[in-house]
Amino acid sequence: MLIVYFCEVTISFMKQKPCYILGIESSCDDTAAAVLNHNKVLSNCITNQEIHSQYGGVVPELASRAHQANIIPVVEQALKRAEVKQNQLSAIAYTQGPGLLGSLLVGNSFAKSMAMGLNIPLIGINHMQAHILAHFIDNKHQKLPSFPFIGVNVSGGHTQIMIVKNHFNMEIIGTSIDDAIGEAFDKCGKKMGLDYPSGPLIDQLSKNGNSEKFTFPVPKVKELNVSYSGCKTAFINFIEKEKNKNSKFIDENLNDLCSSIQLTLIKIITQKIEMAVQKTNISSVVIGGGVSANSEIRNFLRKKEKNNGWSIYLPSIEFTTDNAAMVGVAGYYKFLNKKFSDLSSVANPRMSF
Ligand code: KG4
Ligand code: ZN
Repeated sequence: MLIVYFCEVTISFMKQKPCYILGIESSCDDTAAAVLNHNKVLSNCITNQEIHSQYGGVVPELASRAHQANIIPVVEQALKRAEVKQNQLSAIAYTQGPGLLGSLLVGNSFAKSMAMGLNIPLIGINHMQAHILAHFIDNKHQKLPSFPFIGVNVSGGHTQIMIVKNHFNMEIIGTSIDDAIGEAFDKCGKKMGLDYPSGPLIDQLSKNGNSEKFTFPVPKVKELNVSYSGCKTAFINFIEKEKNKNSKFIDENLNDLCSSIQLTLIKIITQKIEMAVQKTNISSVVIGGGVSANSEIRNFLRKKEKNNGWSIYLPSIEFTTDNAAMVGVAGYYKFLNKKFSDLSSVANPRMSF
């Protein structure tokens, strides 16, 4: 009891002084840097790598090279916008994994060198935890979630349902057994000739489409796990078959195709979110990752809040896709708990919780 009281007093004392955290994100194809004062975002900068769109997906070697070119300018820009000098920083948090090895290595080496040069703590962050912790960014318009809650990560590389017990204790209770949801959006989009990443375009085009025009299979997978590869393959085969009959099939049906596949991809995860709430009796649901920007999944959650009394937490759009503010806020909570990384820590492409 006394120890808890002492910790709370220490944390509230620490909150009175500035605590500047530099967050760095380089797990895939976005080079991003942000500066936070405690959990308040002062700057959030990002350099997207346009080069991948011509290949229809991320090319790891090109991503790594682009990170090397972008990382110094983006960090400088984040510090400048925040009006914070390097020597005012309290710690450097960076994405240690999971992600592409070549991309992670750039953030890892840069963060280590900078932390060593400034003699401040280095904090390695799990990218998937950071997507959830984005909800702890100080935001006047949104309440902070309270523990425990159901965390749902829907991104280009992961689909996870978990019980979040505290900032760093997240237990995965459901995951994809094959492709991730964002990957399925992107591959279906590619088949329709849309640019990468296709998720936002499918979302946009769906608005003028009929979601019941075409039906695609929703796989039966055990417990809270999901599968995306069967539905994606069914979609690709269906397009091939229809194109053989009518070469203009995609152009003539683009909005309906987008709307129908979006409905199916979202249904696969939302039925498992519903099951997770029933099983755990926890009706507070926090969603993160690029696909949490999707209007269909947001509408599903809003309806659940209205009709079933769930408490739902939707991130601001700028914190849905990869960003460094989420890495900075995760770093801030680790900083408060003195969970620092060793300067010998390595990038971990398969990092788990
Ligand atoms: O979290 P994120 O930026 O990167 C990973 O950690 O993977 O997620 C990127 C994914 C891409 O697959 C992209 O197509 C998808 O998020 N995405 C969307 C939307 N916005 C981004 N998918 C569906 N609807 C959207 N509005
Ligand atoms: Zn991500």
